[in-house]
Amino acid sequence: MAPPEDDTKVTEEAMAAEEEEKPISTIVFVIAMQSEALPLVNRFQLTEDPDSVFPKGFPWVRYHGIYKDLHINIIWPGKDPVWGVNSVGTVSASLVTYASIQALKPDLIVNAGTCGGFKAKGACIGDVFLASEVAFHDRRIPIPVFDQYGIGAQQTFSTPNLLQKLILKTGKLSTGDSLDMSPQDEASIIANDATVKDMEGAAVAYAADLSTVPAIFVKAVTDLVDGDKPTTEEFLENLAAVTATLDQSVMNIIDFISGKCLSEL
Ligand code: ADE
Repeated sequence: MAPPEDDTKVTEEAMAAEEEEKPISTIVFVIAMQSEALPLVNRFQLTEDPDSVFPKGFPWVRYHGIYKDLHINIIWPGKDPVWGVNSVGTVSASLVTYASIQALKPDLIVNAGTCGGFKAKGACIGDVFLASEVAFHDRRIPIPVFDQYGIGAQQTFSTPNLLQKLILKTGKLSTGDSLDMSPQDEASIIANDATVKDMEGAAVAYAADLSTVPAIFVKAVTDLVDGDKPTTEEFLENLAAVTATLDQSVMNIIDFISGKCLSEL
């Protein structure tokens, strides 16, 4: 007789398969920067929650509304209470993803934002990528198995129809807590075979995976990490224009998702 663990696994798999056949109803967008979130908030006429679903005193902001048949939630981790800047990076991203899943029970998580791209891997400024895989590049633990845990490579939820219909680029995404790139990070990013680099993706994936919620990663390139310009300068120079491109892509993605179930993406 099969051990009880196997029965549980079979039931979970059957439930997941059933979920994949239901129309998608609730989407949570995790967006780290206000300047990336606000164009979408305005486009979908989303409103800020007066009674936050998040604990009192937390800076996290939920904008929500209904578009076509979809409950759209944009979650912005808000401004850091001490420093007053956008709460970018992996710590806030994981926390806010977990809390959003608990509060809103989404069918799908979409982590949208800007990223650095590698021109050697075919990235150009303004490109929008749908990540095929995510991994960390700044969690080096050179002990067997811990090394793999640190990298935390994960396949993302596969959306072949979405990729084909919207003609997005695809590539691997590497995540770390720095905007710049140290020589050690560079070696890890190369080992991760990444085309794009951000500060949240793999952390959102971690929380989504623990909760068995499918997640996709839409990243628009503001700067070329292996280009000639300093990253910060290029990032700030392109942020507004690239955010507009990201906004358009997210709009197209939402229109594509509307009326479909997960297995059709
Ligand atoms: N977001 C935009 N550009 C980035 C870069 N170069 N590294 C990490 N995150 C980014």
